[in-house]
Amino acid sequence: MRRTEPVSQDKDTGRWQVFRYGDGMTVATDANTFSNDLSEFIPDHEELRTFSKGNFQNMDQPRHRELRGLVSQGFTPRFVAGMAPRIETVAKELLDALRDRDRIDLVTDLAQPLPVTVIAEVMGLPVSDRALFRKWADALLVDNGIDAIFSEQGVAAMAPAIREMNAYLLNHVREYRTSDREGLIGDLIAAETDGMTLDDQEIVGFLALLLIAGHLTTSTLLSNAILCLDENPDATRQLRDDPGLLPNAIEEVLRYRSPLFWLDRRARETVELGGCEIPAGSQVSVALASVSRDEEEFENPDTFDIHRNPVRHLAFGMGAHFCLGAPLARLEVRIALKALLDRYRDFAVASDEPIVYHDPRGFQGATHLPV
Ligand code: HEM
Repeated sequence: MRRTEPVSQDKDTGRWQVFRYGDGMTVATDANTFSNDLSEFIPDHEELRTFSKGNFQNMDQPRHRELRGLVSQGFTPRFVAGMAPRIETVAKELLDALRDRDRIDLVTDLAQPLPVTVIAEVMGLPVSDRALFRKWADALLVDNGIDAIFSEQGVAAMAPAIREMNAYLLNHVREYRTSDREGLIGDLIAAETDGMTLDDQEIVGFLALLLIAGHLTTSTLLSNAILCLDENPDATRQLRDDPGLLPNAIEEVLRYRSPLFWLDRRARETVELGGCEIPAGSQVSVALASVSRDEEEFENPDTFDIHRNPVRHLAFGMGAHFCLGAPLARLEVRIALKALLDRYRDFAVASDEPIVYHDPRGFQGATHLPV
C-alpha cells in the first residue's frame, strides 16, 4: 500500500487510510487540519457522552490542553519514576509464582497482570479487582472489535461495561473526596489551574482512559518484545551483556511491532494528502504498523535492530496528544524484560503450541504466547 496507494479510501468503512511516515506525521501533528474529536462518527449515546467527559484524547485545543494540564499535575514524571520499586516487586512476585513451570503463557502469566496491577496501584484502586479491569478493557477494545465505538450495535454491546465502569470509578472518586487518602485520585481532586478544577465525572473519564489506554497497549508491547527477542537471539545476547541497551531496544520494538494499528483523526477541512483530496469531515486513520516500516524514512525497515538510533516511531503518537503514559509503559517493559533476562538463562517461544493473536486491526500482538 505504501508504494501503490499511500493514501486511499477504504471502501467498506469510507475512512481514509494513510500508510507513509511523512503523511502519518502530518495527520498526527497538524491539529489545525486534523481533529481528535471523532464524536461525529460515534453514535450519540448519553451514557457514553457522560463517561467520556474527561477523556481528553478525544478533544481539541483549548480544552485538551486545560484537561491534560490539570491531570498532568497528578500524573507527573516524578510520580511515574517513583513507581519503579513497586513495579520491580510486582514483576518479581509474578515471576516467583512461575518458578516451578518450564512453560508459561507470557501474556496471561506476566504481560497482562503486570500493567493491570500497576495501573490499579497508580490509581489507588484495589488490585483484587483486576479481573474487572481486564473484563472492561476487553469489552471496550477487544470483544466487540476495535471499531465498535463507531456503530450503534457496537456501542450497545459495550454499554453494560461502560455503565459498570462508570459507577465503579465514580464511587471511588466520591470516597476519595470525603477522605484524606493520598494518591493519584486525591491529586486529581486537588489539581487546580486559574481557579479551574476537575469535577467527579471528568476524573472518572480520565481514570477510565488510564485503565483502558494503559493496559492492553503495555501488555502487547511486552509480548511483542519477547517475539522480537525470540526471532533475534543475537540481540537477546547483547541485552543480557549490556542491559543499558534495553531502552533503545524497546523503542525498536515499538517501531518494528507497533502495539496499536491505527491512529484516528477527522479532517476539519478538505485537504490534499499523498496526491489525494480528502473531503472535509472524513475519518482519517494512520496505519502505525505501516508508517514505522516506511523505507523512505528508515534504512532496512524490516530489520529489527536494537542499535537503530534515533528510532523515530509513531507508536505513541506525536504532537499535543503524545501518549501521556509513555514513560510508565517504557518503565514497566524495561523492568519486566530485565527481570526475565536475569531470571532465565534461556527462553524461547514454544514451537509445538500456537500463538494466538489479537485481531490485527486493533492490537498488533499476541493474546496467548507460550514460552
Ligand atoms: C495517548 C499509545 C501506554 C495513557 C496515546 C496515543 C497513542 C498511545 C498512539 C496517541 C493518541 C492520539 O494521538 O490521538 C500507547 C502505547 C502504549 C501506551 C503504544 C504502550 C506501549 C499508555 C499508558 C498510559 C497511557 C501506560 C497510562 C497509564 C495515554 C493517555 C493518552 C494516550 C492519557 C491521551 C493523551 C492526549 O490525548 O493528550 N497512547 N499508549 N498510555 N495514552 Fe498511551
